[in-house]
This record gives sequence, structure tokens and C-alpha cells, in this order.
Amino acid sequence: MILVRDAVEADVEGVARAHVRGWRETYAEFLSPPALQGLSVEERAAQWRGAFARPDPEAKVVVAEAADGEIVGFARGGPLRGKEPMLLGTETELYAIYLIDKVKRQGLGRRMMRDVFNHLATHGFASVGLWVLKENAPARRFYERLGGVAGPEQSFDIRGDWVTEIAYRFEPIPAL
Ligand SMILES: CC(C)(COP(=O)(O)OP(=O)(O)OC[C@H]1O[C@@H](n2cnc3c(N)ncnc32)[C@H](O)[C@@H]1OP(=O)(O)O)[C@@H](O)C(=O)NCCC(=O)NCCS
Repeated sequence: MILVRDAVEADVEGVARAHVRGWRETYAEFLSPPALQGLSVEERAAQWRGAFARPDPEAKVVVAEAADGEIVGFARGGPLRGKEPMLLGTETELYAIYLIDKVKRQGLGRRMMRDVFNHLATHGFASVGLWVLKENAPARRFYERLGGVAGPEQSFDIRGDWVTEIAYRFEPIPAL
């Protein structure tokens, strides 16, 4: 039984571990080893600690917690903050969603998206967008299944790898 619940400050280490593991497992297919090696749990934990230290009531972080207490995934969304907000063109953004391999495809992604989307809709927002690697076909199918519509693309460098992302937008924000 896996629980989806709001994240609390004590989750920082667990979220950082899930973040790095989820990133490595998912992107092993799309990124080169140097790009994957650059990530560290400590670095991520520091970023997450910063986010918890300055909580934004309009943002939402949820975690998926296994019966043994391990954080196996998380999702985070809130007001638009990307590098090129105009390109995404939505009021809010799903900043990240990650599950580790062993818990994928059990409905947890949908449950986490539902919590984040409900939170944004409750705060009066009408649209949410996100960026996903163009090559990340499983995630793109997931977003499309939930009603996301593909939009513009942007390319940039991730630690030496030139990658292309594609935007998805949800408007109105669906009740999943
Ligand atoms: C993408 C992700 C969040 C989806 O979460 P999930 O819990 O695996 O997906 P769910 O079980 O909620 O799937 C809901 C529906 O989405 C679709 N879907 C999900 N994963 C899919 C896949 N790999 N291939 C095709 N369709 C998929 C299906 O229609 C699925 O419904 P079904 O299982 O009844 O057929 C998760 O797999 C993940 O964390 N992936 C790695 C990280 C990642 O790529 N994040 C996105 C970065 S932008």
C-alpha cells in the first residue's frame, strides 16, 4: 500500500533521494553518463530545504510513501517560474514529477497529479503547463492520457547534452 500525501520538511532527504534515483533511472535512456553523474542527493536536498524554508501557499508538493516509509516519488507544482514563462503560456506549472521504476504504472502518477491540479484549481488558476523531454515517450503518453495538449518546443544544454523539451498544457485544469 502506497500513500500519497502532502510533503513535510522531514521528507527532504527522502524526496532528494527519490529525485536523483528517478532522474537516473528515467534518463539513463536519454542522457549520456556525464550528464547523469553530475547529480547529487546533497545538492538536491539543499534545494528542497530552500523550497521548504520559503513555502509558497500557492504551490504544492506531494510525496508517495511506501509502507516501510521510503519516499518513492513526488510531484511539485505552482505559479509559473520557468526560464521562458511566455513560451509555456500557462498560469501555473508542474515543476517536476518523479517515481522510481519499481512503483511506476500503479496509478500513483495520476494520484499525485490530481492532488497538485486540485490545489492549483482551488487557488483560482485556470491553466497548468509543463516541460518534458521530447524523447520521453512514456511520460508524454501519461500527460496525453490525462488530457494534456502538446505545444511549443525548446532546446538547451544539460551538462553537455543538447536536449529538446516539448510543452504540454492543461486548460482548464482537469479534475483527475
Ligand atoms: C510519468 C510518470 C509520472 C507516470 O506515473 P505512473 O504512476 O507510472 O502512471 P499511472 O499509473 O498513473 O498512469 C496513468 C495512465 O497514463 C498512461 N501511462 C502511464 N505510463 C505509461 C507508459 N509508460 N506508457 C504508456 N502509457 C502510460 C496510461 O494510460 C495509464 O493508465 P493505465 O495504466 O490504466 O493504462 C512516472 O512513470 C514517472 O515518474 N516516470 C519517470 C519520471 C518522468 O519521466 N517524469 C516526467 C518528467 S517531465
